[in-house]
Amino acid sequence: MCIKPIPRTPEVWGSLGETFVEDIKERLQQMISADRYTHSLGVAEAATGLAQLYGASVEKARIAGLVHDCGKSESKNILLNRVLEFGIVMDEIEQVETHLLHGPVSAELARREFGIDDEEVLSAIRHHTTGRVWMSLLEKIVYLADYIEPGRCFPGVDELRELAWQDLDTALIRAMDLTLAHVIRRGLLIHPQTVKARNWLIGNSKK
Ligand SMILES: [Fe+2]
Ligand SMILES: [Fe+2]
Repeated sequence: MCIKPIPRTPEVWGSLGETFVEDIKERLQQMISADRYTHSLGVAEAATGLAQLYGASVEKARIAGLVHDCGKSESKNILLNRVLEFGIVMDEIEQVETHLLHGPVSAELARREFGIDDEEVLSAIRHHTTGRVWMSLLEKIVYLADYIEPGRCFPGVDELRELAWQDLDTALIRAMDLTLAHVIRRGLLIHPQTVKARNWLIGNSKK
């Protein structure tokens, strides 16, 4: 089954109401595991709340949250085949930490499978694994929503949720601290984009 192409203008998405969202959900359930689908609903919910609070497009946040992990496969081979098929250029960290590639792969799948061509939405999906310098408001929201969605349970998540409703950038820095601590604990490679994004956010907070 293939869903109808989605209109280009995000402003139209809202007027399409639940039919549009239900089409995406139906297709998404065929693409990812039940647990990941539940997680995606949670990210959409958290992203919607953050968008309302911080003045981003609620429709874009909801859609980006829903499909942000649509290319996250349990199989490394499937992921790498998609990287090749889509012509995604891996950097030296992604060549080792291949799971990071589900960001760009999901963005490309969102374009191809769901017809989403809003660059702001695609960028939020593409960069949700590492963050980056000059993150847009929507990119920040999706990155953080991925961390604080209702299904997440890890030490410090309640404090992070509190912080997210008070100060977006401070919460984002805290989320990146947790990511970096996790990566170091597991002996994985640190992606420099996360370090640069964190430095950028901290630099901004000191201005
Ligand atoms: Fe993800
Ligand atoms: Fe996620």
